[in-house]
Amino acid sequence: MPPAPSPSTWLITGAGGMVGHDLRATLDARGERVVALRRDELDVTNARCVEQCVTEHTPAVILNCAAYTKVDQAETDESAANAINGSAVELLAHAANEVGALLVHLSTDFVFDGSKRTPYEPADTTRPLSAYGRSKLLGEIAATHAERHLIVRTSWLFGVHGPNFVEAIRNQIRKGTNPLRVVSDQRGRPTYTPHLAQAIVRLVDANARGVVHYADADECSWFDFASAIAEEAGSDVTVKPVTSDEFPRPAVRPAYSVLSTRRYEQLTGATPESWRAGLREYLSLRA
Ligand SMILES: NC(=O)c1ccc[n+]([C@@H]2O[C@H](COP(=O)([O-])OP(=O)(O)OC[C@H]3O[C@@H](n4cnc5c(N)ncnc54)[C@H](OP(=O)(O)O)[C@@H]3O)[C@@H](O)[C@H]2O)c1
Repeated sequence: MPPAPSPSTWLITGAGGMVGHDLRATLDARGERVVALRRDELDVTNARCVEQCVTEHTPAVILNCAAYTKVDQAETDESAANAINGSAVELLAHAANEVGALLVHLSTDFVFDGSKRTPYEPADTTRPLSAYGRSKLLGEIAATHAERHLIVRTSWLFGVHGPNFVEAIRNQIRKGTNPLRVVSDQRGRPTYTPHLAQAIVRLVDANARGVVHYADADECSWFDFASAIAEEAGSDVTVKPVTSDEFPRPAVRPAYSVLSTRRYEQLTGATPESWRAGLREYLSLRA
């Protein structure tokens, strides 16, 4: 018999990252019992440490925020990406089963190839275009080996606890780059990480299982997003649309990776927050 899980313990892995920070804050604000471990406190690729940690804390929920997130670097470092984003999730799934915990695993719009022109539903066919996307798909498969699992795919994250697109644009503005050249042929849904953290907790509260998409409303291109950042930051910089071909990067990105949040809305009764409102909050917090 596995030890009985303590109902209110949430274990967060990768707690030093952007989403990990905000999940901790959301759960702390609810008065939950949280064990939040940074990479130096729990390396999720270490089987013995994962097992020891989960056995010690017997969490009801494991929130896996640990990930290899350097999308371009993964092209030349696929084995490291696979170890963290794939094999480590097998370890977490096994440990979750040992204590009867729910494994909540985060995944990405980059598991899709972007060939659709209507929002991606959770059951749509996956076909990642990059090493990072392939490693994240391995992680999704591994997460399904937990008897109780919830895979939350999300997209285009920005939050105050990590490097992100908003900060990259602000840095360009600070450096005096003008015009800013930003791709207009990739569409998605920017998502503010505190909104994602709330959505994840809502989904757990609603006993959601399987794959669910959460992203903020509404869809836009990177060019639209950059234009909004400049506007909200009070900058009069010119933002110029360019094509992805003019901006080659090591990892191929899906041209269209708009996630449908219909299942999230059905399960929770909530509608996605606005990324524009998130952007305003972000700018007020990260001066
Ligand atoms: N960022 C996005 O735009 C985006 C979009 C869609 C989905 N996602 C997914 O959302 C999740 C959270 O992403 P995020 O933006 O919060 O990423 P992040 O800020 O890079 O956080 C990931 C954390 O995992 C840690 N980590 C790396 N290897 C580890 C290991 N072996 N053991 C334990 N911790 C380890 C990292 O530590 P170090 O910094 O020390 O390496 C970092 O603190 C990921 O699953 C990601 O794939 C992200």
